[in-house]
Amino acid sequence: MKIAIDGPAGAGKSSISKLAAKELGFIYIDTGAMYRAAAVYAIKNGIEIKEENMTEEVLNKIKIDIKYNENGQQIFLCGEDVTKRIREADASLGASNIAVIPSVRLKLVDLQRELAKGNDVLMDGRDIGTYVLPDAELKIYLTASVEERAKRRLKELIEKGQDADFETVKRDIEYRDKNDSEREFAPLKKSEDAVLIDSTNMTIDEVKNRIIELARGIK
Ligand code: CDP
Repeated sequence: MKIAIDGPAGAGKSSISKLAAKELGFIYIDTGAMYRAAAVYAIKNGIEIKEENMTEEVLNKIKIDIKYNENGQQIFLCGEDVTKRIREADASLGASNIAVIPSVRLKLVDLQRELAKGNDVLMDGRDIGTYVLPDAELKIYLTASVEERAKRRLKELIEKGQDADFETVKRDIEYRDKNDSEREFAPLKKSEDAVLIDSTNMTIDEVKNRIIELARGIK
């Protein structure tokens, strides 16, 4: 069985996906982490994020691995653990910019479909229900107001010890919302057959339980 969860930044996708996948015994695949890792590759190597710079040679050098342990997922870029690095602000913006480039998307979508093959998976991102796994048995579009999403993201960054203020976080989220939904190739949008969940006034547990209920109704 495949579950696709899409939605904008800060809607709660990754926290909820982790919990729901664990409860269902599914593999959780965080596709945003892959775009973040690709952006970190460009930043580390001084490559400006532009379509013409993403040559086949560069794309072939971007090696992303995901490992799972009791603490959750670890992301490796060319053998180096970048689990923490990919959550920094420059990686968030870089991810949104690199995600516009079709050749990068095609490479990462291949990897995502490969990981999903033959497994029960819960995958989250922007284009999972519309493009990566169009046959997913359950599709969720998870959203919340931009104020609430910025508030959540600010709390998360501060808890991680990063410097952040509400207005900057909100501006970054609005920039990514626009970038993600206006790009030409596989933009962020609700798939017609997706269940809409607005988490503005819901707790993580409430959303998780709703998803579990929907998944069990299908199984
Ligand atoms: O956690 P958050 O929602 O902030 O971001 P993320 O899910 O880690 O994704 C980071 C960026 O990668 C997004 O802003 C998108 O531009 C891009 N992305 C995408 O284009 N397609 C996906 N399936 C997943 C992420």
